Amino acid sequence: MLQYIPRQKLFSKFLIYGGLLQLFIISIFLVYRSEDKPEESAFHDHDTTNNYMNVCSLPVYDYWHPKVMQHIDYDFDPTSHCDREFKPFTELKNGSWRIVEERKGMNCSARCFTGIDDYHVNITDWMPPGPVSCEFLEAVCWKDDREVYGYIHTQIIPKKSEVKTLVPSPPSVFVFLFDSMSTGQAKRSFPKTLSALSSRLESIEFPFVNKVGENSMPNGIPLWFGKSIEDINGENYGGVNIKADWDKNRYCYSFLNQSIFEDFESYGYTTLSIDDWKAQMVNYPNCHGFQHSPSHHYMHPFYMIYEKFGMKITQKHLAGQFCREERHPAFEYFQDFVDTYKEEPKFTWTWINSLGHDYINGFMRVDEEMLEIIERNLEMFENSFVLFMGDHGLRLGKKRFMETDIGSLEMHNPYLSISIPKSLRKNQAILEIMRQNSRKLQTHFDTRATILDILKYQPESGFSDRTTMNIPNEKGHSYLRRQPSFPRTCGQLPIPPEYCICRVEKTPVTDENLRNRFGNLLIDHVHDLLDNANFSSICERFEFLEVTSLLHYGHLNHSESTHNYEIIVMADAPSYAQFQTILMHNKETSQVSFGNIVRLDKYGDTGDCTSSSRFEKMCFCKNLTFRQKWDYRFVKQWKRLEAAIEYYLL
Ligand SMILES: *[C@@H]1O[C@H](CO)[C@@H](O)[C@H](O)[C@H]1NC(C)=O
Ligand SMILES: *[C@@H]1O[C@H](CO)[C@@H](O)[C@H](O)[C@H]1NC(C)=O
Ligand SMILES: *[C@@H]1O[C@H](CO)[C@@H](O)[C@H](O)[C@H]1NC(C)=O
Ligand SMILES: *[C@@H]1O[C@H](CO)[C@@H](O)[C@H](O)[C@H]1NC(C)=O
Ligand SMILES: *[C@@H]1O[C@H](CO)[C@@H](O)[C@H](O)[C@H]1NC(C)=O
Ligand SMILES: *[C@@H]1O[C@H](CO)[C@@H](O)[C@H](O)[C@H]1NC(C)=O
Ligand SMILES: *[C@@H]1O[C@H](CO)[C@@H](O)[C@H](O)[C@H]1NC(C)=O
Repeated sequence: MLQYIPRQKLFSKFLIYGGLLQLFIISIFLVYRSEDKPEESAFHDHDTTNNYMNVCSLPVYDYWHPKVMQHIDYDFDPTSHCDREFKPFTELKNGSWRIVEERKGMNCSARCFTGIDDYHVNITDWMPPGPVSCEFLEAVCWKDDREVYGYIHTQIIPKKSEVKTLVPSPPSVFVFLFDSMSTGQAKRSFPKTLSALSSRLESIEFPFVNKVGENSMPNGIPLWFGKSIEDINGENYGGVNIKADWDKNRYCYSFLNQSIFEDFESYGYTTLSIDDWKAQMVNYPNCHGFQHSPSHHYMHPFYMIYEKFGMKITQKHLAGQFCREERHPAFEYFQDFVDTYKEEPKFTWTWINSLGHDYINGFMRVDEEMLEIIERNLEMFENSFVLFMGDHGLRLGKKRFMETDIGSLEMHNPYLSISIPKSLRKNQAILEIMRQNSRKLQTHFDTRATILDILKYQPESGFSDRTTMNIPNEKGHSYLRRQPSFPRTCGQLPIPPEYCICRVEKTPVTDENLRNRFGNLLIDHVHDLLDNANFSSICERFEFLEVTSLLHYGHLNHSESTHNYEIIVMADAPSYAQFQTILMHNKETSQVSFGNIVRLDKYGDTGDCTSSSRFEKMCFCKNLTFRQKWDYRFVKQWKRLEAAIEYYLL
């Protein structure tokens, strides 16, 4: 999800002239800003041999390191002043909707929505109070012909699954995925939840999961379909280059099928899929997604109503002013689902986008809510597999944090914890093998293999099979079994080198000539990519401003011919884009090549003219409106000012 803070739009209305003042202040700060102090590493260890293929020095560090804590605010709550007195005017109960309290001069009507595909819905006519047979109902009230109220109600209308399960009553599997939740973010933001998972459900944490793609989709597709959609360029590390399994035509411009929900349905499970954002993982930015609901119950139509098809007030009712945000109906729908299907084996995937994607402090206010969900469903969870996880870490946080070694690691290190049914915990062998595997480098492919193992292979042995297994057509290896004995490194697992979390020594390069040369080459490279994709005519050219960080990987050995660097470059106005990538320099041939380009700053809709998830981050569209440009510039200047002030205060 990419959005830059509506609050600031409001700001810009009356602070428009403040911009000039800001520029002035920033320039003072920037002029006086001294050389960056070299940073002390937060990590306990690194691989001194720089052996990418066979060694992984896992990232061990203090999740509460002062470098991080200076950005953490446990009281962050954009809804703290919300109207706690507000009560919905309407309700949907027992399959029937009604007006809670009639008011003079007010009339209310409701209409049903049914999903067709990921972009279309069927809408009924407005209906008076009474029984309704749809899962998503928009209720609207008018007073004196003016719209005064809008709300979306949900209900679960049970379906019968005719499919027989492999064994009688197999355990349910519940996945809660918080978008952008790294291991560090989870530790800092969900203390009560993690403590409950660990003490009540004996969860096991897997702190060394490495993401396999930049943002949600290239991590979600591996989880749901087992396919990679990003290339791996390992050649410069002694590895090999591996092309992605699926190209854009397959994962984006075709309808998706055979997701993990289908696997569960074909084994007799009842399934639920929730993603609290219209553009959700399978669609963002403009991908087809599913032609038909992928699961028995699919909450996507709800967010299409909320963000697109609903009436004016409906489209705002989760913005927080009523203490209700996007996740709340998601949690309610989840609860309704599990209450409806008490006896059936269930598979649910709850993907919460709306909290942590853009905010380092976004999750804190949900800790208590997650705890409530756990407590309320404790008995059910005790007999199930529960996964609490992230897809990747925080990508679009504060610049000052993202530039620290901890910030740039956490971006690639999603959280994962798994708890298993109580009855299986009696047998310590399963917990022991999970603990062993939790101390190694893992990926979403392995998490997927674990879920498939739970579904298809373990039930027949009563979950007692620890032998190594290669699941046909799968890349990962189940955590419930001994994994194959090859070294678990970024070189041997399907991990693009840009995202590798294994620690190697990184030495800051101070040579200004080299920094500027590499910086300009990276900007040229971005332009080449745009040229080759025919986007140059719609995108502004970037002007090189500065290299904010250049790190040399591994031991400085000047006699070696290939050197790898991690580089962060900032472009000048109007984009102020920050690009990060790995740069490979061959000293003998003078050749320079690059890894995947990662965009570190928020760019909102400024790249939308490309309609491409791959290129939007590299394009600052020429055809933005004056207003869009001004708002963008304002936010960027504001951030720079904040960063500059922080720099002096901290
Ligand atoms: C819903 O139905 C149940 C039983 O059919 C009944 O006990 C309950 O009062 C009903 N609730 C409402 C709000 O009508
Ligand atoms: C609500 O009442 C107004 C007049 O009071 C009327 O014009 C309007 O059509 C009514 N709306 C609905 C949906 O019944
Ligand atoms: C949507 O409405 C059309 C026309 O009433 C109907 O033919 C179609 O089956 C509906 N689709 C769904 C998914 O309900
Ligand atoms: C799944 O979708 C792909 C691409 O649209 C298509 O080629 C394939 O035949 C589909 N498979 C099934 C089982 O529908
Ligand atoms: C770019 O345009 C040229 C000529 O119009 C065409 O040959 C080429 O296939 C296009 N490339 C892409 C990636 O669309
Ligand atoms: C530096 O690299 C060269 C060539 O790979 C190698 O022969 C030499 O032993 C290395 N020196 C050190 C100090 O590692
Ligand atoms: C910019 O151009 C793209 C297509 O080239 C178009 O989809 C988009 O709506 C345009 N944006 C504006 C603000 O005009």
